[in-house]
Parts: sequence; C-alpha cells; structure tokens
Amino acid sequence: MTATKGLEGIVATTSSISSIVDGVLTYRGYDIDELAEHATFEETAYLLWFGSLPTVPELEALKRDLSAFAKIPEQVIEQMKLYPKDANTMAALRSAVSSLALYDEAADDMSREANEIKAVKLQAQLPTIVAALSRIRKGLEPVAPKEGVSIAENFLYMLWGKEPDSVSVKALDTALVLHADHELNASTFAGRVTVATLSDIYSGVTSAIGALKGPLHGGANEAVMKMLEEIGSLEAVEPFIRKKLDNREKIMGFGHRVYKNGDPRAKHLMKMSLELGTMKNDTTLYDMSVNIEQMITGQKGLRPNVDFYSASVYTQLGIDRELFTPIFAISRTSGWTAHILEQYTDNRIIRPRAEYTGMVEQKYVPVDER
Ligand code: ACO
Repeated sequence: MTATKGLEGIVATTSSISSIVDGVLTYRGYDIDELAEHATFEETAYLLWFGSLPTVPELEALKRDLSAFAKIPEQVIEQMKLYPKDANTMAALRSAVSSLALYDEAADDMSREANEIKAVKLQAQLPTIVAALSRIRKGLEPVAPKEGVSIAENFLYMLWGKEPDSVSVKALDTALVLHADHELNASTFAGRVTVATLSDIYSGVTSAIGALKGPLHGGANEAVMKMLEEIGSLEAVEPFIRKKLDNREKIMGFGHRVYKNGDPRAKHLMKMSLELGTMKNDTTLYDMSVNIEQMITGQKGLRPNVDFYSASVYTQLGIDRELFTPIFAISRTSGWTAHILEQYTDNRIIRPRAEYTGMVEQKYVPVDER
C-alpha cells in the first residue's frame, strides 16, 4: 500500500453534479461562464440539487420556500449573542449551523424528501446566520429576513439594515453562482465523508464549514484581503511580493490542485473588481491585484484562483473581510447539500487505508519499568 499525499489525482467517487475537464468547470453540464452571465443563484442552486434548470413555477416555488425558511430559531440568535465578539467568524458560523440541528425535529429523518427540505432550509438559513453574526459583533440587533427577495438581496439587507443597491445585489449574486460548487473540493469531500456514515445533513454541512475555514481552501479570500491591507499601496506591491517570493512564502489566492492553466472563475471576479472600482472612481485595489498577479504569474507561473479577486470585489461592496469566507460558505451550501443528497442516494461508507510508517514489533513494558 503506497499513500498519495493529499490524495492528488485520486478519483474518490462518481458524481453527476459538477465537473472540471481541461480547465472547464460545468455544473450539471452547463459551463460556469454561461451560468455566471445568465443564471441567478437560486436557479443555480435548483440546478445543483435537482439536476435541471427550473421552470418558472419551479423557481417561484423554490423562492417561496427559501423565504419561508430564512428565519432562524430564536435560541440560535440568543446563543450567537453569547459568542466572544472577536471569535473567528467561520468558527462562529460552524457552531451556529451545528446548533440548527438541535431545533429541527426532522434533523435525523433520513428520507429523501426530508433531506431535500433540509438542504433548502440550510441554504435559506446560512445568510441569516452570517448577517446576524456580523451585526451582533458590532453591537447591533440582527435584522429579520425579508420575504420575496433573492438570497443576495436578503443577505445584504440583513447585513446593512437597509435596502441594498441593485449593483451590489447583482455582483453578490454572480459571486454566489461562481462559488456554488466545485467537484470534489476539500470541504465537499469532508461533507460527503461525514454523511457516508449515515450521519445527518447538519453534521455534513458543519464538517464542510470546518474544512472551508482553512487558508488553503476558502479561508484564502480573507487572507488575500489581509495581504492587500498590509501592502497598503500600489507602490508597495513590488517590494512586498518580491520579499515573499525570496522567502519562498505562499501567496494566498494563487495556485490550485486541479487548474494548472488558470481558474475559470477568476476572470469573472477580476472583471467585477475592475467594474466596481471604476464605478467608485478608485481602482487601487484592482490595480494592486493586477500587479500582484503579473509578478506571481510571471515569476512562479501560478495563476489566480477564485479567492484572489473575490477579496477586492467584496471589499468594494463594503463587506468586512471577516465575512468573505462565510459568504463562500453561503454559496457552497448549495453544492455541499447537493453532494450530500447524492451521497445518500448511492451510499457506501468512505473508509480508505493509510500506509503505516510507524515503529514495528514493540514489546509492552510495564509503566514502572520505562
Ligand atoms: N504561492 C507560492 N507558491 C505556491 C503557491 C502559492 N500560492 N501555491 C503553490 N505553490 C508552489 C508550492 O510551494 C509548491 O512548490 P514546490 O514544488 O517548489 O514546493 C508547488 O507550487 C506546488 O504547490 P502545492 O502546495 O504542493 O500544491 P497543492 O496542489 O498541494 O495545493 C493549493 C494547492 C493549496 C491551492 C496551493 O496552491 C496553495 O496553498 N495556494 C494558496 C492558498 C489558496 O489560495 N487557496 C485557495 C485555493 S482555491 C479554493 O480552495 C477555493
């Protein structure tokens, strides 16, 4: 038995949800470029869960369900108020999502119908939790979700406590489409491993949130913004990046296990970053990002991934960087839950082997003789 570090190149399951072939990402056979341009996040989530784009009545029904489920139990809000104000937002989100199961009587109902309802429920509730966490940290009261609006609009409304502008809603909606699913990425795999024991969907999503938190995965978007803040100006990019490269440090937002010639999602976020900067008459963050990209791609041959330009996009939308990875989680909940439903459909416990490299033939020595 020989181990493959990081399971690189290992095909661990079959899936009909999303695919990456020759650098092209598709959801259920639809190219991400086309979905980013035309589809809403609700249509995308429906596509991931149910395998086809919704008809008008199907989409309306889903929107009604998302609205109906968006409220979270009062006990979860009260519990979030007790979290330390400086707690890591992904840790807080992981805790809050885990606790949702305690107030759902159907949490352990393993029927397909119950799990589909819980998938939609989780999708509806994540934005409410993230917005509430942000407001509670700032000493503000959470804002109740609004009926009849999109997830992107509702999230910004609950976050800011006022109607968001249409440009911000559209930009966030597109970002949600781009982050919705990504084949067998680390967090999705974590979620699938968890539910493959026939554990519940809340456990699966909680595992996935824990995996997404790390800076080598979803946590990279927050790390990119930290870096941009640390650099501070366009002139400071060159010496900062040069030093990092000389020290052989990793630059967050670059590289990918699967894409070696560029992440197809990055160009959409790059374009959005420029558009938002141009609208605000300040393209500094975009310009800094482009300079960083030129250096990293030029010298290391590494291309930006989905996290790189999402940092400047979210910042220009006026969103705090602690919320970047939680927003990723809001979007990826659609993909996670689609994969969890797929795992339940044709389940076998996921239990690989390890190549043992430890000591052998040890003889037990009583404790007082060691
Ligand atoms: N900056 C500098 N060097 C890098 C970077 C980077 N961002 N990424 C990879 N490299 C280098 C590595 O140092 C390594 O070089 P070496 O062979 O000389 O040691 C080589 O490229 C291969 O990199 P690995 O880390 O082995 O590649 P792996 O496939 O294991 O990891 C990962 C992929 C985690 C995305 C990696 O590129 C990375 O750490 N990137 C930065 C974090 C990041 O942006 N994560 C988000 C990924 S997208 C997502 O999950 C949503």
